[in-house]
Amino acid sequence: MQTFGLLTDGKWQEKDEKIDVLDKTNQEVYAKVSKAEEKDVTAAVDSAEQAFQNDLTTPYERYEILMKVAQLLKDHKEEIAKNITHEAGKPIKQARSEVDRAVETTLLSAEEAKRLAGEGVPIEGAPGSENRMAFTIRVPVGVVAAISPFNFPLNLVMHKIGPALAAGNTVVLKPASATPTTALILAKLFEEAGLPAGVLNVVTGKGSEIGKWLTQDERIQLFTFTGSAEVGLNIKQNTGMKKLVMELGNNSPVIVDYDTNVKEAAQVIAAKSYAYAGQVCISVQRVYVDEKVKDEFESELLTAINNLNIGDPFNDDTDLGPMISVEEAERAEKWVQEAKEQGATVLVGGNRKDNFLEPTVLTNVTQEMKVVCDEVFAPILSLITYSDLDDCLKEVNQSNYGLQGGIFTNNINKAMKAARKMEVGGIMINDATQFRVDLMPYGGMKDSGWGKEGPKYSIKEMTEERLIVMNLK
Ligand code: SIN
Repeated sequence: MQTFGLLTDGKWQEKDEKIDVLDKTNQEVYAKVSKAEEKDVTAAVDSAEQAFQNDLTTPYERYEILMKVAQLLKDHKEEIAKNITHEAGKPIKQARSEVDRAVETTLLSAEEAKRLAGEGVPIEGAPGSENRMAFTIRVPVGVVAAISPFNFPLNLVMHKIGPALAAGNTVVLKPASATPTTALILAKLFEEAGLPAGVLNVVTGKGSEIGKWLTQDERIQLFTFTGSAEVGLNIKQNTGMKKLVMELGNNSPVIVDYDTNVKEAAQVIAAKSYAYAGQVCISVQRVYVDEKVKDEFESELLTAINNLNIGDPFNDDTDLGPMISVEEAERAEKWVQEAKEQGATVLVGGNRKDNFLEPTVLTNVTQEMKVVCDEVFAPILSLITYSDLDDCLKEVNQSNYGLQGGIFTNNINKAMKAARKMEVGGIMINDATQFRVDLMPYGGMKDSGWGKEGPKYSIKEMTEERLIVMNLK
């Protein structure tokens, strides 16, 4: 059994009190991590603050360290992927792809370390500014608190710490309680790559306690968080004037116009709704189908679902495995029950065994049902028909969320109308919502949060643009 300590000031410290990390396939204890107390969190911030004051690395050194970490991730790809599958229940092919993506995120962060540029300011254009020159530089903000979610225990950690470190910040990382060990393994790779002590600190334990202690610490300058809108709001309410980057929930909408290859759309939607049991912030949740192709779409969708491989996440072919916990699967099952009681029809699925929930399709849903208006984060998709695109877009926008949306259509005018009208941070044309490559700007509007991830974008959030004006004699 693996046991892990906390990482503070370059030292691993095992606590007597431990928290079990379950193997999500069989619910057996897979690893134990240390449970941080308040003094440990304070020590982690002390260490990050001290390391920041000591200005331990140059941008080029940070580039080199991140490049080494990218190589180490490649070298350890298979064992890290297996670790993700154990602790997250993510199908192994999706876990391998997460490691590949994390390599990419690390390389992108490394490159950004060399591009931390400001800009020239044409200051003499202002009256009375003769003989002055001005430019800006980008400076790190200081100590960054990174709070990461369970669903991408490697790549979403890297999306936070890669750019934060590239910019010259120091970090206190709190990985998800359900999947902390991948982040701890990653921290060991940073050590091996030569990251100086104190620059990256990792605390594990009870999320609500650590969150409270972090938000109370005045020395933290920026919080970068991925998780639920509820927790995001809590962080916002408790961090005063601090900078925040928030990637919160979504109930991703996809429109299927009649003028499209319906079979292809159904196949893509099935794949991108049920991958990792729907536990991705951009998993397809609401599908709006033009009534002219409703029957064809339904039938193609059911065929595509039938072709999904469901079961053991360690099987190379598995598309859909367990959910993160029995409690979460029960919660999702209840939402389906509740929708049924409110008039929805279960076209397929809806049954649960432990933390495995069948891929589920609901029809006859209404806007008020939780499966439609809340973030379902489970393998549940709702089908809604429409006859007019303008009305459909209005309905799509009746959501508190707005991370990514999608439309399948061969009609450029309809595609562009959706792009202009849909209230989302990103729109996929002829694809489903669950498309992300790591260089792109990623982030939403409304309750889906603010600030963008993607190293080029998050590094802007994680630095200050400082103006320098010279009065030349
Ligand atoms: C998320 O769940 O927000 C991350 C999606 C991704 O990186 O693919």
